[in-house]
Amino acid sequence: MTIAIIGTGGIGSVIARHLASGGETLRLSSADNKSARTLAAQIGRAAVVAVDNRDVMQGADAVVLALRFGALKGVIDEIAEPLTDKLVVVPSNPVGIDAQGHLERLLPEGQSSGKVVAGWLPAGTRLAMAFGTMSAGLFESSSNRSPEPAVLFYAADDDRAGEEVERLIRTAGFAPVKVGGIEQSGRLEVGGDLHDLVVGPAEARSLIGGA
Ligand SMILES: NC(=O)c1ccc[n+]([C@@H]2O[C@H](COP(=O)([O-])OP(=O)(O)OC[C@H]3O[C@@H](n4cnc5c(N)ncnc54)[C@H](OP(=O)(O)O)[C@@H]3O)[C@@H](O)[C@H]2O)c1
Repeated sequence: MTIAIIGTGGIGSVIARHLASGGETLRLSSADNKSARTLAAQIGRAAVVAVDNRDVMQGADAVVLALRFGALKGVIDEIAEPLTDKLVVVPSNPVGIDAQGHLERLLPEGQSSGKVVAGWLPAGTRLAMAFGTMSAGLFESSSNRSPEPAVLFYAADDDRAGEEVERLIRTAGFAPVKVGGIEQSGRLEVGGDLHDLVVGPAEARSLIGGA
């Protein structure tokens, strides 16, 4: 499978390394492509840098939008047409950095990144909120854990999106566990009860039921 990754910063670079380690072919883009080129050089032959965000979608079966929340809408509008009929994986949390350098929430309490992003996507896209449920450091170190794999929670409305993202989660070295539809994605995001947890499958399933 060929995966486009738009955004090669803190979380996009770890997603790319895990997917490349699992055997995926990657197409990368970033704002000015400098970080994308550095990452592609680290990964080697499995990753190529595209010219821009539209070019990165050429031949891609799925796209990961590893962008800060504030950049998502503009990029979705830029690539709306090639997004149709693709799996779209979004790890973005609804947070930004304020003028003092502190983390600030960008949406009212109770509103999730998943719900808002779902409203921005063109009809026909298959959205899965995934890969943003842990900090980049934990996500980097928890891949291919043994004897029991660590869980990556995800949310998706569409069954096909669920199957496709589960395959990517396994490829990245984790066990997929679905929390529910996109309306549940707030549980996975910053401030949610399932955010930043490293747990095995049995504990994950009991946590889902326990909310
Ligand atoms: N970092 C974490 O620990 C973590 C963990 C879980 C979830 N998340 C979520 O993941 C999202 C990304 O966070 P991050 O830490 O990876 O942010 P980041 O380090 O700032 O990386 C953002 C990336 O987006 C790229 N970008 C910005 N505008 C773009 C555009 N118009 N077209 C293409 N690429 C563009 C940047 O390109 P350049 O490199 O060229 O500047 C950069 O590679 C956030 O919503 C965050 O909440 C982050």
